[in-house]
Amino acid sequence: MIQSISSAIFSEHRPVQIIPSVLPADWANMGQCVKDLELAGVDRIQFDVMDGNFVPNLTFGPEMISACRKYCKVPFETQLMVSQYNCETMLEGYVEASKGSNGEPGVVIAHAEANVHLHRILGRIRQLGGSPSVALNPHTPMDMVKDVLDMVDHILVMTVNPGFGGQAYIPTMLNKITQLRKIILENGYNVDIEVDGGIKADWSLSQCCAAGANCFIAGSGMFAYPTLKEGCDALRKVANDAQNGIIVEK
Ligand code: DX5
Repeated sequence: MIQSISSAIFSEHRPVQIIPSVLPADWANMGQCVKDLELAGVDRIQFDVMDGNFVPNLTFGPEMISACRKYCKVPFETQLMVSQYNCETMLEGYVEASKGSNGEPGVVIAHAEANVHLHRILGRIRQLGGSPSVALNPHTPMDMVKDVLDMVDHILVMTVNPGFGGQAYIPTMLNKITQLRKIILENGYNVDIEVDGGIKADWSLSQCCAAGANCFIAGSGMFAYPTLKEGCDALRKVANDAQNGIIVEK
C-alpha cells in the first residue's frame, strides 16, 4: 500500500523524464543504439560506468560515452559506480564525455557511498561544466545527502543493489523517495528525483512516481518491448497517469 501523499507534494509536478540505461543495448553498435533511443523519444540516456571495484562488474569509460555523442543530440547522464580513486582521478573525463552536442552540462552521478569527499566532488562536477547528481544505494539513508541537496540538480535513489541489469525492484525504497521529495519542497530546492533498478511500466514505476520521483531509468523495462518506442511510450504513460492520480497497485 502506498502511504498517502499530501496534495502539496502531489500537485508539485516535475516533468516526467524517461531515461533508458544502455546496459541491455548491443554494445558492438552503441552509436546506432543511442540514435534509435533518440528516435524512440527518450529524454536522456544513462551510461552505467562500473569499475569492478565499487560494484562487482565492469563496463566502459569516458571514451565509449564520447564516441556516442556524434550519433544523437539527446542529453547524456553518467552513473559513476566506481571507486573514490577512479571518481577523483577521472572526473574531468566523465564530465566532458557527458556534455551535450553544444557543450551543455551532462548529468554526472557520484555515489554517496564511494566518495568521502562528496561535497568536493559535487562542487567539481559543477565547476567542470557538468550537472551534479548524487546516488544512494538501497541501504543508504537519505540523511547522508540532505546537506548537499543544495548542490545537485538530481538525486538518484537506487531501487536495486547496483552492478547488474534485470534485477528485481526493491519496493521498500518508497519511504526514502517520499522523505526526499518532502525535504526538497520544504527547502525550495530545484532537484529532480530519479529511480533506477527494476523499473517497469507497472506498479514499480507508478508507486515511485506517486511517492515523488519524476525521472525513471529503465534498462530491461524498456528493451523488453518489440520496439524502443513502445517501451518508452509505455513507461511514460504509467508516469503521466500516476502524476494525474491513477496509481497502478501491485
Ligand atoms: C544497475 C544500473 C541500472 C540498470 C537498470 O546497477 O545502475 O541502470 O542498468 O537495469 P534494469 O532496469 O534492467 O534493472
